[in-house]
This record gives sequence, C-alpha cells and structure tokens, in this order.
Amino acid sequence: MPFTVPVPPLPTPRELVLWAEQRFTTAGLVFGHGTDNARDEAVFLVFHALGLAFDCEEAVLDRPCDAAGVAAATALVDERIHSRRPAAYLAGRMWFAGLEFMVDERVLVPRSPIAEIVERGFAPWIDPGTVRRVLDIGTGSACIAVAAALALPRARVDATDVSADALAVARINVARHGVGDRVRIWQADLFPPAPRVRYDVIVSNPPYVRDVEVAAFPPEYRHEPVLGLAAGADGLDCVRRILAGAARRLSAHGILVVEIGGEAGTIERAFPRLPFIWVEFARGGEGVFVLRRQDLEPLPGPAGRHRRRR
Ligand SMILES: C[S@@+](CC[C@H](N)C(=O)[O-])C[C@H]1O[C@@H](n2cnc3c(N)ncnc32)[C@H](O)[C@@H]1O
Repeated sequence: MPFTVPVPPLPTPRELVLWAEQRFTTAGLVFGHGTDNARDEAVFLVFHALGLAFDCEEAVLDRPCDAAGVAAATALVDERIHSRRPAAYLAGRMWFAGLEFMVDERVLVPRSPIAEIVERGFAPWIDPGTVRRVLDIGTGSACIAVAAALALPRARVDATDVSADALAVARINVARHGVGDRVRIWQADLFPPAPRVRYDVIVSNPPYVRDVEVAAFPPEYRHEPVLGLAAGADGLDCVRRILAGAARRLSAHGILVVEIGGEAGTIERAFPRLPFIWVEFARGGEGVFVLRRQDLEPLPGPAGRHRRRR
C-alpha cells in the first residue's frame, strides 16, 4: 500500500479573517476608510479576495478555501500591511448608500454619513417628491450624485469637481449605474457655470481638514488625493465659499447639506447667526449640517451682520 503524507486542510474564510485581523492589529494599521477596526477591515479584504458576498450563508465561512483563494487573500493582506493603502483601493471598490462604486487613488474613498440622508431623498428637510434639481459639489467618485439620482428618480443631478482625475472616475460610476441621462458632470470650482439653474438641494462633502492635520496624516490617508481633504488653516476654505454662493443657486424651498467633520464648533463660531441644524445619524457619523435657503439670506458675513429668520 503506497505511503501518503496527510495534507492539512486549507483554512476556512473564518480562519483567514481571524488571521488577517491579528496581523492588522500587530502591524498597527490605521483604519477610517469605510471601516474603523481590524476585524471589519479583515472581513472586507478577505471576502473580496475570495469573491464572497457580505451576506453569504454562515456555512460558507466554515468550508475550506481553495488554494487560489488563500493565495489571493494572503497577498492582499500582505499588501495592505506593507503599502498601507486603504483596503478600498486594493479592492478597487467601495459601497455607499448600498451601491457599489469603482474607486482608486484619484478619488477619496466614499464614507460620508451623508449616504443616510441621500437614501431618504433628503427627508425630512425637504419633501423628496418636490426635488427636481440636485447639485453635488466636490463629487469625487460621484457616490453622492449617483445615490441621489437613484433615490430621486424624477430629479436631475449636477455634479462638480475641480479634479479632472476625479471626474474620470465619476464618469465611470455614472455610466455603471445607468444614470448618465440625469447626472451631468462639470469640471468647475464649486458651482457649475449655469447661473440660472436653481437647485432644490445643494449637497457637499467638501475638503475640510486643517493644513496642520494634513501634515500629520498617517500613511493610509496620504494615499488619498490631498485636493479632497486639505482646506486651509481652519478647515473652512471651501465651506466659506459654499455658504457665500449657495443662496443664489437654491430654489425658494431649497436646502444646503454640508459635511464639515470635526469642525462644527469652528463653523458655529465663524457664523454665529446661522441656524445650523446638525444631523443625527442612525448608522454613526457626525458633522453634517442642514441650512434652508431663507437661513442663508442675506448672505452670511462677519458676526453681527446676519439676520436670523428661523
Ligand atoms: C472630501 S472629497 C468628497 C468626494 C465625494 N463627494 C465623497 O463624498 O466621497 C472632496 C472633493 O472635492 C473636490 N474639490 C476640492 N476643491 C474643490 C473645488 N474648489 N470645487 C469643486 N470640487 C472641489 C476634490 O477634488 C474632492 O473630489
């Protein structure tokens, strides 16, 4: 009888995830691009390597992987640790508002809590049935623009970005989601060159990171386009200009929705008479305000010159 060497079974997906989590923790990686801990990052990359859906049956997780899957997962985990590239760039995709988007280093990794507001068609701050025109400022991958077009099937969406590189990715995502007939992409500095158009919703996740914080970024964040993050000494460079220009571009019942991250206090101090409504999120996140058009008139200026009308 021939002698056979017993071959140990290949690891299961569950075992690979635990192994990856351990390696990420030991390596001291930084998270924040769609996940905020080593376990979720491990699930994201291992499932991607194995071609598993996040809602796959539990039993699948305990069946041994094939050799190709193990090799792919191992390579991705190694690359994540050695390159410090965010997992979404390694996978080439990210989810936003339940939709899949193609991403690479030309665009910020989609992760804005604004997704939750878009999914609701911007309710309760506006009746979704009345929204005909949306402007997404700083569209990046077009995640907000595409999700808005799909949440509001009767709306037309304009999406701007100054970065030609970002807009190339935005166009891919607009085409992939089949909304090219309703989403128009503009290379523009904040507002599109269509001054007569009035928007029911202006939404933006603009750059809002202070220069000093950008200078101290961990390696993961250095892979993202600095144009998508850096916003001057107090993080308000872009937001100030959005506040100054929004009223002229909003319809009478229009709203402005802007993410400002950790700079809520800064903007409250800079515009003390603006009645910011800070959004609370069921799925986590903060630093997103809503303003109505009437709150923005007269255009906000230095403290004391703005009349509160709420
Ligand atoms: C924080 S990223 C947001 C990307 C995307 N909307 C998202 O939520 O994932 C900001 C985007 O604004 C763009 N941007 C920066 N300055 C801009 C400007 N002055 N006008 C238009 N877009 C700008 C950047 O290129 C970047 O794509």
